[in-house]
Amino acid sequence: MTPPSILILPGDGIGPEVMAEVRRVIDWFGANRSLNFEVIEDLVGGAAYDEHGTPLTDDTMAKAQAVDAVLLGAVGGPKYDDLDFSVKPERGLLRLRKEMDLFSNLRPAQCFDALADFSSLKRDVVAGLDIMIVRELTSGIYFGEPRGIIEEGNERVGINTQRYTTSEIVRVARSAFELARRRDGKVCSMEKANVMESGILWREEVQKLRDEEYPDIELSHMYADAGAMQLVRWPKQFDVIVTDNLFGDLLSDAAAMLTGSLGMLPSASLGAPMENGMPKALYEPVHGSAPDIAGQGKANPIACILSFAMALRYSFDQGEEADRLEKAVENALADGARTGDLMGPDGGTPLSTSGMGDAILKALDETL
Ligand code: NAI
Ligand code: MG
Repeated sequence: MTPPSILILPGDGIGPEVMAEVRRVIDWFGANRSLNFEVIEDLVGGAAYDEHGTPLTDDTMAKAQAVDAVLLGAVGGPKYDDLDFSVKPERGLLRLRKEMDLFSNLRPAQCFDALADFSSLKRDVVAGLDIMIVRELTSGIYFGEPRGIIEEGNERVGINTQRYTTSEIVRVARSAFELARRRDGKVCSMEKANVMESGILWREEVQKLRDEEYPDIELSHMYADAGAMQLVRWPKQFDVIVTDNLFGDLLSDAAAMLTGSLGMLPSASLGAPMENGMPKALYEPVHGSAPDIAGQGKANPIACILSFAMALRYSFDQGEEADRLEKAVENALADGARTGDLMGPDGGTPLSTSGMGDAILKALDETL
C-alpha cells in the first residue's frame, strides 16, 4: 500500500520555522506509531515568487490536487507589499482554495487548561472548551450577484446579494455532520431564518439532510445573533456549529478569541470527497507570516502542529493519534512550556520555536 501523501508548503516569514517543528512531529509518528507519510515540500507565496515569478506554479497546483492533504505555513510579508496584485503572495493561497474548491472552513476554538487565564472570559467558562465552527467559504454574500455600487436617482446604492443554492447548503452541512460523527455528535446550525429567505432555505435543507442521512446527529437551530450571545455566554454548550460565509466570518473570529493567542489557532479548509472518501483538504495556522518576529526563532509552532493534528483526524482518519498529539500539546503547556506569545511581561525566559518543539516531542514520548 502506498503511504498517504502530504504536500508541505512552508511559505514565508515564520512559516518555514513553524513547519520545521511539524516535520519533526510527522517523523515522530513514523518512528513511534508506524504512521508513515509520503511528504513532499514545495514553494508558495513570496518564496515561490522569488524563485519562479509567481506565488504558485501550475506544477505545485497539480501536486496539491494529487495529495491527500496540503499543509501550509503562512504567506506574505513587507518585502512583497509593492508587488502587482496579480502576483502577491496571498494570491497563491487564494488559488489553492479556489481550484481545490474548499467550501468548508473549519475553525476550532479549543482552550487548554493551562492557558485558560489568557481568555477575556472567566476561567470556568472557557477551561476545557473544544468546539468547531464550520463556515461556508465559497458562496453567500461575499460572492452573490448582483453586486456593486449604482446610482439611483440622486442616491448611490451599495449592493450585495446573499444567495445560496440547495447543493451549496447541503455540501457544507454534510461536512459538518461528518465532523460531528468524529466528535460529540452534536451540530448547531445558525442563520437568520426569521428575516432572510436564504436562512429559511438553509434551515430546511440542513434539517432535511439530518433526517434523511444523519439521524444519529443531534441537530439544533439558532438565529445567528442569539448564537453570538450564547457563544460568549456559555460556549461549552456547543460541539459543531455550521453557518454561512458572513456569519461564520464573524462567529469564528469571536470564538477564536475565547481562547487566547493567535499562535495557538489551527484551521482546515475542506472540499469534496476524493476517490478514497476523504475530503480534499488544506490545513494551516490562522496566523500570518509574523514579519515582526520572523527569523528569530520566537514563533509559537503550536498552531501549525495542531493543524497537523486536524489533518490526522480529518484526512487520515487517525482520530486516536490526533488525540495523542493534542494531549501532548496540552501536557507540554501544563508542564509550563511557553513561547513568548504565551507569557506576560514578567514571565521569565520564553522557549524558542524548536524549544517548544522539543517540549511537545517529549510529551509525545510520554504518551507511549
Ligand atoms: P500575523 O498573524 O502574521 O501577526 C500578528 C501578530 O501576531 C504579530 O505580532 C505576530 O508576531 C504575532 N504572531 C502571529 N503568529 C504567531 C506565532 N505563531 N507565534 C508568536 N506570535 C505570533 O498578522 P499580520 O502581522 O497582520 O500579517 C503579517 C503578514 O502575514 C502580512 O503579509 C499578511 O498579509 C500575512 N498574512 C498571511 C496569512 C496566511 O498566510 N494565511 C494570514 C494573515 C496574514
Ligand atoms: Mg475574518
